[in-house]
Amino acid sequence: MPNPTPGQIARVAESEIPSGDPLALFAQWLAEAGESEPNDPNAMALATANSNGSPSVRMVLLKDHGPDGFTFYTNGDSRKGEEIRANMQAALLFHWKSLRRQIRIEGKVYEVEPELADAYFASRSRDSQLGALASDQSRPLASRGELLARVAKVAARHVVGSVLRPPHWTGFRLEPQRMEFWMDRPFRIHDRRQFDRTEDGWTNTLLYP
Ligand SMILES: Cc1cc2nc3c(=O)[nH]c(=O)nc-3n(C[C@H](O)[C@H](O)[C@H](O)COP(=O)(O)O)c2cc1C
Repeated sequence: MPNPTPGQIARVAESEIPSGDPLALFAQWLAEAGESEPNDPNAMALATANSNGSPSVRMVLLKDHGPDGFTFYTNGDSRKGEEIRANMQAALLFHWKSLRRQIRIEGKVYEVEPELADAYFASRSRDSQLGALASDQSRPLASRGELLARVAKVAARHVVGSVLRPPHWTGFRLEPQRMEFWMDRPFRIHDRRQFDRTEDGWTNTLLYP
């Protein structure tokens, strides 16, 4: 079928982004990305800011999502951990190239319950657990050799028995206050719908692309 012309696009009046529950729509788009992305469909950019409002952004992996929010795990003493403690407002961004879709999520970030962090840490591979113990994430490192020596030292101290979660390794959950779904449409007449959380649900509005 030939591509539609701008005039034909203008006559497609309905948004293709449903106005129902944004959390259900998120779950659907993530599942669809799981079918089409070459790797890490759960990878998301996490934007934080320090107490002066200076922003920083990096990728993390989404490990859980639901009505309570979006959870990722990291070193709580890292730059992102320090920024979250200084300023709990943060934003997430998913971009799935294979689907030409984007989701933006904004809200406040809270540390997860210790039992939850324990359970997730226990589910990781032993090598990942040892790496988490050995790494002072975001601190200056003199050489790769220094890091490998620390991993070897930690491994020697944990030859038998389970590896316990170090206190600095933790999870954070972003509670969504705003979510925006974007999908590519021909001629840059893209489709955007923004959802805002209210006392008893969500309101939504379309946005100019
Ligand atoms: C695809 C991808 C996924 C990542 N997932 C995580 C993650 O789940 N947790 C984490 O601490 N770092 C993850 N990283 C590394 C971070 O991007 C970052 O380098 C690290 O967390 C330090 O960030 P900070 O100095 O801003 O705290 C990931 C990197 C990539 C490219």
